[in-house]
Amino acid sequence: MALSHPQGRPQGRPRILVTRKLPDAVEARLQRDYDATLNPADSVFDGDRLVTESAGHDGILLCSTEKLPATVIEKLPAEVRIAATFSVGHDHIDLAASKARGLTVTNTPDVLTDATADIAFLLLLAAARRAYEGERTIREDRWGRWSPTTMLGVHVTGKRLAILGMGRIGRAVAQRARGFEMEIHYSNRSRLAPELEQGAIFHDDPEDLLTVADFLSINCPSTRETHHFLNAERIARMPDGAVVVNTARGNIVHDDSLISALKSGKLAAAGLDVFENEPAIHPGYRDLPNCFLLPHIGSATLETRHAMGFRALDNLDAFFAGKPPRDRLA
Ligand code: DGY
Repeated sequence: MALSHPQGRPQGRPRILVTRKLPDAVEARLQRDYDATLNPADSVFDGDRLVTESAGHDGILLCSTEKLPATVIEKLPAEVRIAATFSVGHDHIDLAASKARGLTVTNTPDVLTDATADIAFLLLLAAARRAYEGERTIREDRWGRWSPTTMLGVHVTGKRLAILGMGRIGRAVAQRARGFEMEIHYSNRSRLAPELEQGAIFHDDPEDLLTVADFLSINCPSTRETHHFLNAERIARMPDGAVVVNTARGNIVHDDSLISALKSGKLAAAGLDVFENEPAIHPGYRDLPNCFLLPHIGSATLETRHAMGFRALDNLDAFFAGKPPRDRLA
């Protein structure tokens, strides 16, 4: 690998601080090409630790679990010139502050699209068909006779699926939904070209999208505009007995509103892989039988985690070779 950088490349291999334990193959490539400080204990990096331990490093390879707000970015040692995040989401990094400080930021889009869309569908089906209750019945040895009237779920095939955010992952969810003959509706910052839309019905106003959401799949990024988007007023616009699925970011949902709609029966069920303040999630979710919960594992397949790591490394390689990183955000 050529080691050069317009602003003066580091002597020897670039030094990279890695904040989390990464898959072996990713760490092997890191150690082959970089002077990498790994975190084999996977211990927690808060802002202060990031600032202190990044001293003497040319870049940081972090995850969405490490926050880079303006207050931390401003204190980073001058030698830190790039933050490559092992995630597609980048709401944990203040991009404006990064630009102002001259910190290059990259992410890992594309490579986790299928894994995340698979989990969205798992959540959708599990929530609709009461998978948590059924599983529990068997594990707790409470399964009586087969019954025509118990464990009745929500029918999926042929229903209307509303996708909030029709980027790569939203479109991959739509592709899976076509196999279930669902009618696909979506809302997005801009309308997609017909070849990407593939017959999906565009709603300019997300408020209108909600009115047709027998199923709502949240696939938009977390931004100031989408923060607590799904609140009580918006849930009220949804059809009675709808199902909500979230594989994007927890803070797009207002937890108290969702929990009370699941309790009242306004919503039939929810399937959630992401939560506000995870892992310290709203305790109200834990007791809800009509909520299928996963611990943020949308991208958790070995193939995907390898691809995310290699994509982050491709970005670092490009940066230190003086080329524009493919996934540059700032
Ligand atoms: C992502 O890549 O954004 C996943 O949610 C993991 O952080």
